[in-house]
Formats: sequence, C-alpha cells, structure tokens
Amino acid sequence: MFQAVTKTLSVASTTYVCRGILLGIRHYCKKTPTKLRVSQALSGADLGANVKVQGWVRSVRPQKANVFLHVNDGSSLQPLQVVADLSSPLVFLSLRLLTFGSAVEVTGSLKKSPHKKQPVELEADQITVIGECNPVDFPFKIKERHGLEYIRQFPHLRCRTNAFSSLLRIRSEATTAVHSYFRENDFVQIHTPIITSNDCEGAGELFQVEPSGPEIVEDEYFFSVPAFLTVSGQLHLEVISGAFSRVYTFGPTFRAENSQSRRHLAEFYMVEAEISFTESIEDLTKVMEDMFKSATEHVLAHCVEDVDLFHKHIFSFCFHKDTVDAMMKSSFPVITYTEAVDILNRSSEKFTFPTDWGCDLKTEHEKYLVKHCGNAPVFVTDYPYDLKPFYARDNQDHPERTAAAVDLLVPGVGELCGGSLREERLDLLSARLEEYLDLRRFGSVPHGGFGLGFERYLQCILGVDNIKDVIPFPRFSHSCLL
Ligand code: 4AD
Ligand code: MG
Repeated sequence: MFQAVTKTLSVASTTYVCRGILLGIRHYCKKTPTKLRVSQALSGADLGANVKVQGWVRSVRPQKANVFLHVNDGSSLQPLQVVADLSSPLVFLSLRLLTFGSAVEVTGSLKKSPHKKQPVELEADQITVIGECNPVDFPFKIKERHGLEYIRQFPHLRCRTNAFSSLLRIRSEATTAVHSYFRENDFVQIHTPIITSNDCEGAGELFQVEPSGPEIVEDEYFFSVPAFLTVSGQLHLEVISGAFSRVYTFGPTFRAENSQSRRHLAEFYMVEAEISFTESIEDLTKVMEDMFKSATEHVLAHCVEDVDLFHKHIFSFCFHKDTVDAMMKSSFPVITYTEAVDILNRSSEKFTFPTDWGCDLKTEHEKYLVKHCGNAPVFVTDYPYDLKPFYARDNQDHPERTAAAVDLLVPGVGELCGGSLREERLDLLSARLEEYLDLRRFGSVPHGGFGLGFERYLQCILGVDNIKDVIPFPRFSHSCLL
C-alpha cells in the first residue's frame, strides 16, 4: 500500500528500486508455491503453477478416492474447487478437521477443471487446517440458504455468507465509484471533522462527546464548548467552498434518532458535495443525477456476479434488476413540492399522515410519488421554507413561502438525497443565525450542495429492504455494539 501511495505521488525512482527488489525475491524463491487469492486462481492466469491458497471452507464432499472442497477468501463470490487425493497422507491427516467454516491452507497445482461451472480447480498436495470450526455450533449450515434477517443476528460471522460478502464487495466498489466520480469532475475531497460544536441540521439529534469518567460539569467541557459527533459535514464544506468551487466529503455521520426504521441508522455514511457560483437548483440536480448514474454504472460493471446475487435471489423490491435498468435509462423528472402535494391529494390512496400544503412528506408519500413517476427517481424541489433548515435559500415567493431545497426520492427507499441552495445573503440570514454570518462577510457567492445517504443508495440499487443489511456493523438505538 505504501508503495502504491508513493507511486501515485510520482516518486518514480523509489518505485523502480522496490520493484527490482521484488522481482529479485520472486526469482530467488522460484520453487516455493506462489500465494494466490481465490479470485486470482479462478482467473486461470496461473494454470499449471504450483500455488498456495488460504481461505475458509464453504463445502466439503468426501468421495471414495477424493475429497472435494470449496474454499473462499472474500475475493470473489465464486469459490475455488479443491480436489484432494485421500490416499495422500498429508491430505488424509487433515480430513477429520475439514469442516464447513474451518480455515485452511492448500498447496497444489492449478488445473483446468473438467466441470462446466468452474474454469479451474486446485489439485491439492497438502491441506493444512489453520483454524478449526465445529459445524454443530456454527450458526450457518452448509446446505441452507439463510435469510438476511437470520444472518443479521450474527454480526461477527455474517461476512462468511455469500450474501453479506457480496454486499461488502459491492460496498467497497461503490465507495471507489463515488470517489472516482468526484475526481473525474474536478472536486477536491475535504476531510471534514467528526467532532464538532455545530448542529448543522438543527434537529437536535446529537450525540455529545466528552471524555469518559465522572459526570460532565458545565464550563469544564473538554473543548471549552459542548462538542458532538457530526450530523453533516456541510458547514465545514461551506467554509472550504469559500475558496474551492467544487468540494466533497464522504464519511461517517451520526444522528441520535430513536428509530428502529428500515432506513435509519445512528451511524451512517454520507456523501456530501458543495458547489460555488450556483445559478439555480439544476446545478445541484445535475450533479446528483450524474453521480448516481456514474456510481451505479461502475458497480454494475465491476460487481456483475455480486449484484446478480442480490437481484436474483435476495431482492426485496419486485423485479429489481428491471427497476435499476429503468433508473439508469430515465432522465429523473423534477416536480415542485406544491405539485407533489397536488398529486398526493388527487390520488385515491389512503395515507396515514396528512398531505396538506406545509406538511412534511413522509415515507408513504415519497413512495407514492416515486410510483406515480413510473417507479423511477424523482426530484422534489421548493419545499415550504419552514420545513427546511436555516441554511436553505429563501425563494421569497408569496403567498406560500418556499426554500430552494431539493430531495431526490428513489424506488423502495424514499429520500436518498437532500440538498439546497444556501442562503448567501447576509441580511436575510442575519435574522436566522449569528454564527453563520462571518462566512457571508468576505467574498460570499451563491452556492449549494447536497448529501446522499450511502446506505440508502446501496439499498436502492440492490433492492435491500432493511438498512441494517447494507452496513458491516449497524448502529441504531438500543442495538448492542460489537
Ligand atoms: O437530508 P439530510 O439530513 O441532509 C443533510 O444533512 C444536509 N446537510 C446535506 C447537505 O446538504 N450537505 O441527510 C442527507 C441524506 C438523506 O437524504 C438520507 O439519505 C441520509 O442522508 N440520512 C440517513 N441515512 C441513514 N440513517 C439516517 N438516520 C439518516 N439521516 C439522513
Ligand atoms: Mg433530508
């Protein structure tokens, strides 16, 4: 990793020296087996080579003369088939410990497989069990397909299942895709702080940060003011957007929401962008739509098998592959909040929550609007001024006062992104907030930004119903922490 970073920073000479040393070592160790990851072994590039593969056993099938194993190491959905001759003492001795879930090291040679399903198999000379696993106690069973709800009970083990390992690979690839999008579009990544004194959204859903120990005494705060885990990096992005016209951040955000819902977590990842010199809300919707499509295209291209697993076997929203294809093809429509309220009021659907102008759109309303727009993502703009945080730009319209805010609503999830043009006019803002003012005193320009909930994004493209199934270790109210 150090080498990779060094290389990127163009210290070319160092890299060449290191590479030379590595090649030398490889040449010297010619006879030792080459260590391969399962994905590398499956690529077929090393057919005939003497290799070593390490991983966890996914299935064991002893037959008369041979034992067949499937071994996986998280590098691909497809396991590597290992065939071992039971007459070999180095294999026979391990047989008793070769159980579903055990960790093994296998050396042998890679051969073309006679079976259609796998291109390559490993003919083992030696199998060593590195970590034993008692299959009776192991909560996952060899032939069962466990549901997401069941595996969620084992946050320390669920990465061993196909479903969750696919999710983790997709999540990692989607993270790369988000960074690539911003990089290709000249955004600068800013590491905004996790500990802050601001409550950006003003909703009071804050986790306070103080050293552990005796009770907090007022005026003896660690940071001299009350400190919290960030609910959004927006205000810090806004600071930097005073000198950089395109910035973004992608990190954990925290909300003390007492909610067990399928789309809320206490700790989630948010992608936030801030753009200066904006002229209209379209400057934001364009970036949101482009980023969504570019990241999704990348994930669909790089995680074909993993995404397929979700779309074919795990999805919770019907025909999810079709939904994703339709999303990618559609040009996301834009409707105003006022139009949205009209659509809701004209529908024959019985909603639990009121749909009068001025009421917040609830999940049931958001889902209806998405359906109404052809089950595709839809932007809703110009919300009532009083529904949006202090920073949203006043449209100064009458009689119904609205703010230049926008939410992106998507199938199955509802709100995926929330953003707005920011109130850059000092006189209008001064009535609202004292501390925000200095940002507007020195070279203030029209600007805006948005935040996308990364877990909700994964739910949306994979069709996963519960947000707790798209994050490695979910944190929510009353959950146990691992
Ligand atoms: O709509 P929100 O609250 O917007 C902001 O925080 C802005 N300051 C962002 C910005 O303009 N820079 O949150 C943005 C998105 C939501 O649309 C939603 O997808 C996600 O973050 N989100 C959550 N995801 C999971 N669990 C929660 N508790 C979430 N709260 C918000
Ligand atoms: Mg919001």
